[in-house]
Amino acid sequence: MRQPLIAGNWKMNGTRASAESLIQGVLKGSSGIAKTDIAVCVPFVFLELGQRMLSGSPVRLGAQNVCTEASGAYTGETSAGMLNEFGCRYVICGHSERREYYGETDAIVAKKLTMVASAGMTPILCVGETLEQREQGFMETVIASQIDAIIGANGIESFGQIEIAYEPVWAIGTGKTATPEQAQDVHAFIRARIAEHDAAIAEKVRVLYGGSMKPSNAAELLAMADIDGGLIGGASLVAEDFLAICQAG
Ligand code: G3H
Repeated sequence: MRQPLIAGNWKMNGTRASAESLIQGVLKGSSGIAKTDIAVCVPFVFLELGQRMLSGSPVRLGAQNVCTEASGAYTGETSAGMLNEFGCRYVICGHSERREYYGETDAIVAKKLTMVASAGMTPILCVGETLEQREQGFMETVIASQIDAIIGANGIESFGQIEIAYEPVWAIGTGKTATPEQAQDVHAFIRARIAEHDAAIAEKVRVLYGGSMKPSNAAELLAMADIDGGLIGGASLVAEDFLAICQAG
């Protein structure tokens, strides 16, 4: 059995004060939730706050991006070693917003995964198709190429130390959620793709769903056989909503 993971992706939201009260709220409500792993992926500037507040609690800390290099003259970047020092357990890699707005290619994403894993943290690899790609019948081709690129660059063993998030781009922040069946089909496809290389790793790897997951639809999505959790955007900014999703896991 794969234990569910519910990870909040705060994206670029919050103030120091709102971050503090959100973490406080999540901490308070998380104590009764034992069967689900919980994480919050906060903006870099709130990592120190998160580390301080979450230390000793079951709620894990994560970041939303990382540099492809270990150190040096890379103005504005943050290394995996730095994230590790600030208590990060997870790092989101290859989110569609980074692929779209910052030109992250599969090769860049593969390098980031390596940096995160070698610093002893767990990458959350995001994959997903656009509406156009889905409507043109290319959904499986797109997902397969995103997964295959990582297998090709980092080896199938790298999936032993990874979480995957399937996030249909058309469902992110739009209020349009994939139906449980649509999501399950893609999750099963991802697992099967990995199983072609290593059945044991495929069985173990968690595949989270992301895209307008909220308290009202979380239970039915999380009930599907291959949906092992969620990567939550908007609903992770309200402690009660985020906790309700964690409860549904
Ligand atoms: O990383 C999270 C996803 O982009 C989902 O965002 O829940 O606001 O649709 P959303």
